[in-house]
Amino acid sequence: MMKFEALAGTMATVKADVLALPVVEDKAAFRRQLREVEQYVETVPIAVSTGAFTGKAGQTLLLTPANIHVRHILLVGVGKGEALSTESLRRLAGIACKSASAIRATSLVLFEPDESERVRHGAGVAAADTIAQAYAEGAALAAYTFDKYRTQDRTPYHGPARLGVATHSRARLRQLTEGLTHARVLCEAVYLARDLANAPGNEIYPETLAQRARAAGRASGFSVTVFDEKKIASLNMGGLLGVASGSVKPPRFIVMEYSPRKKRATLPIIVLVGKGVTFDSGGISIKPSANMAEMKMDMSGAAAVIGTMQAASTLRLPVRLVGLVPATENLPGGNALKPGDILRHLNGKTSEIDNTDAEGRLILADALSYASRYKPDLVVDLATLTGAVVVALAHLATGMMGTSEPHMQQMRAAGDRTYERVWQLPLFEEYEQLIKSDVADVKNVGGRWGGAITAALFLKHFIGEYPWIHLDIAGTAMLEENADYAPKGGSGVGVRLLIDFLRHWQKG
Ligand code: BES
Ligand code: MN
Ligand code: ZN
Repeated sequence: MMKFEALAGTMATVKADVLALPVVEDKAAFRRQLREVEQYVETVPIAVSTGAFTGKAGQTLLLTPANIHVRHILLVGVGKGEALSTESLRRLAGIACKSASAIRATSLVLFEPDESERVRHGAGVAAADTIAQAYAEGAALAAYTFDKYRTQDRTPYHGPARLGVATHSRARLRQLTEGLTHARVLCEAVYLARDLANAPGNEIYPETLAQRARAAGRASGFSVTVFDEKKIASLNMGGLLGVASGSVKPPRFIVMEYSPRKKRATLPIIVLVGKGVTFDSGGISIKPSANMAEMKMDMSGAAAVIGTMQAASTLRLPVRLVGLVPATENLPGGNALKPGDILRHLNGKTSEIDNTDAEGRLILADALSYASRYKPDLVVDLATLTGAVVVALAHLATGMMGTSEPHMQQMRAAGDRTYERVWQLPLFEEYEQLIKSDVADVKNVGGRWGGAITAALFLKHFIGEYPWIHLDIAGTAMLEENADYAPKGGSGVGVRLLIDFLRHWQKG
């Protein structure tokens, strides 16, 4: 990942291959900003005089100045002035980074928005640490690539090696640096989550997922314990064992624990649970082959939890954090789970299997019951659980359900701040009808309608006496198209959301 640094200076003193300037789509402000640029660029660019470049969001214009230590000036449109937000800063940094990459620039410097702009937009984009964090996230996350398996047409160039965030005011340097330090930890954790999600199923399976969690724990200071099949059986995790029985690769149950050294007893305990299906073929209820390859990412919840553990422990956040990952493949082997089978889960409840492709809830059931032994203040699970949530919200929001309105409100706020947005769906008691079983306590599918909700209601049977939030990330964990600061593929969603949530933790 690129190096980040905070700089104080002016256009005349800054050194860079590419200096990017945010330009707002507002005639007066646009003229003012351009006057400064025109001191170093002899003629007014055609794109400006013809009105082709107006500062609309996403527009870019590359200029070549003279007499300064900058090879290129890149104007990046932010859109109408009202649109300036932390998200527009992330996006413009992502766009700037990709434009700089297209010309193989080795350094990119972004000026923070002018004071007049910051004042106009109030608290949201005023703080230097927020601005620096947004710029760094946008640029570094845009530069992410997953190309380690490519042996041809692959360049050693992976984006600018240096990202500078520049200010006119020395007094803001310290805060800019703080934002950059924080962003580095976050981006590294998002990279880890994306790498895990993008890795193919023959690289990441339960055993190797556990190894990656161990490595992350060693590097950043959280403990990792891995339960093997025998231990899983002795705990009566019938859901995890049942799903794993279709594969020759044995399941794992990964337990991660982080706690800061000081004031331990007074800190909240939060358990994160991540769905770790390292490949989901559907099992005996097998999926169609079109797009089945995507199901290598069915461990994105686990990836988000491992990434969050890494970031939280690197930042030494003042919370006690537990990460639980039930890890298995879902394959149709000779010993596989069959429709009609009945499983007994860790909390003693039984489930009737109507569709072996609804496997995520079966393994999460055991993990959610296991979470009780920590007496947590909150449990949050993340899972690529249902296609239905993608029908409801497309790729733009994570589906949120749960039992604690105050905690969900805080999650919603964290989603708005990080733009990893969440949207609540109801858990009305009447939906229970849909998952009633004639032969067991609950059935693992609920028919055609309300699939995201019936999945969550299934999970609710297995939670303990704790507040609970369920995040269905099936739509947000994998992107079908490139976005401004996320290439298509695994998005790493959940890491920035949860860290922001934990930083703003309040007892619900
Ligand atoms: N892993 C899938 C859900 C999924 C679908 C994730 C699309 C990402 C993109 C899950 O295990 C699954 O197969 N769910 C079924 C449930 C159904 C059988 C009730 C689904 O959504 O079709
Ligand atoms: Mn499935
Ligand atoms: Zn699945």
